[in-house]
Amino acid sequence: MSFQRPHTTQPSPHAPQNQSQSQPFHPQHPQAQPFPGHPQQPNPQGIPHQGTVLTGRGLVKYYGDVVGLAGVDVTVQAGEALAVMGPSGNGKTTLLHVLAGILTPDQGEVWLGGERVDQLGDAARTVLRRRRLGFVFQDNQLLAELPADENVALPLMVDGVSRREAIGRARNMLAQVGLSAEVSRRPGELSGGQAQRVAIARALVGEPQAVFADEPTGALDAATGAQVIDLLVGAATHRGAAVVVVTHDDAVAARCHRVVRIVDGRVSER
Ligand SMILES: Nc1ncnc2c1ncn2[C@@H]1O[C@H](COP(=O)(O)OP(=O)(O)O)[C@@H](O)[C@H]1O
Ligand SMILES: [Mg+2]
Repeated sequence: MSFQRPHTTQPSPHAPQNQSQSQPFHPQHPQAQPFPGHPQQPNPQGIPHQGTVLTGRGLVKYYGDVVGLAGVDVTVQAGEALAVMGPSGNGKTTLLHVLAGILTPDQGEVWLGGERVDQLGDAARTVLRRRRLGFVFQDNQLLAELPADENVALPLMVDGVSRREAIGRARNMLAQVGLSAEVSRRPGELSGGQAQRVAIARALVGEPQAVFADEPTGALDAATGAQVIDLLVGAATHRGAAVVVVTHDDAVAARCHRVVRIVDGRVSER
C-alpha cells in the first residue's frame, strides 16, 4: 500500500507535497519533554511546518433525504488548528467524519498530504485512520481495564510495534502531556482532564498527519477544557499535524488558529 510506513521512522515521512525548504518538516522529536507551549499564531517562528495537509473539496453527504453536507470546501495546513463551529445538527460531525475517512462523501474529494483518500476502500481507510490520523472524542473512549500507558500503546501494538517499544513510546508521550506519574493508572483512577490527556497522547503517539477532535472538552469544566484544548493544539501543531476541532464553545474555538462555521451543511469563514 502506498501509505504504508515504518513504525520507528524519525524524522517523520509526513512531509507535505509542496515542501521545498531545507528545514525538516518535523522538528526533532522531543524526548519526554513537555512541548513548548501553544503557539499564538500558526508557525510563529516562520515556517517550521508548511503545506496543506488536509483538503475537502465540494463535499456533499446525504443521510437518505437528510442533507448532512451541502457542498463544503475546507483546507487545513500543517501546524494549523481549525475550529469547526455551528449550531447542533448542522453538519459539524458529518464534516469531521468525512474528512477523517469514517464516512465517504456522496460528492467531492478528500485529500491527505497530496493523496486522494475518499475513494479508498473500507480496509484501506481503516489502515489510513490507524496510521496517519489521530482521534479525540468527547468521552475519551479509553479501555477501562488497561492502565494509561497500555491505552496509549495499544494502537501501536495493533499496528505491529513490539510491546516493549510501544510502551516506551507511550510513556514518552504521556510525559509530554504531563502524566509521567500516572502511566500505571486506569481510566477510573484519573480525573476527566487527565483521562482526556491520555486520549490526546493516544491520538498523537503514532505521529499522525492530522488529528480530529469532536467536542473534546464537552465533558470538562471550562478551566480544564481550556488546558486540554491548549495541550491538544500545542502538542499536535508542534509536530506539524493539522488539527480539526469540532466545538460549540467559543472559548475553545478562540484557542485554535482559525474558525469556520457550518450552517445547514455549508461552511463559511468568519
Ligand atoms: N447517521 C445518521 N443518520 C441520519 N441522519 C443523520 C445521521 N448523522 C447525522 N444525521 C443528520 O445530519 C445532520 C447533521 O448532523 P451532524 O453532522 O451530526 O451535526 P452536528 O455535529 O453539527 O450536530 C442532522 O440533520 C442530523 O440529524
Ligand atoms: Mg456533532
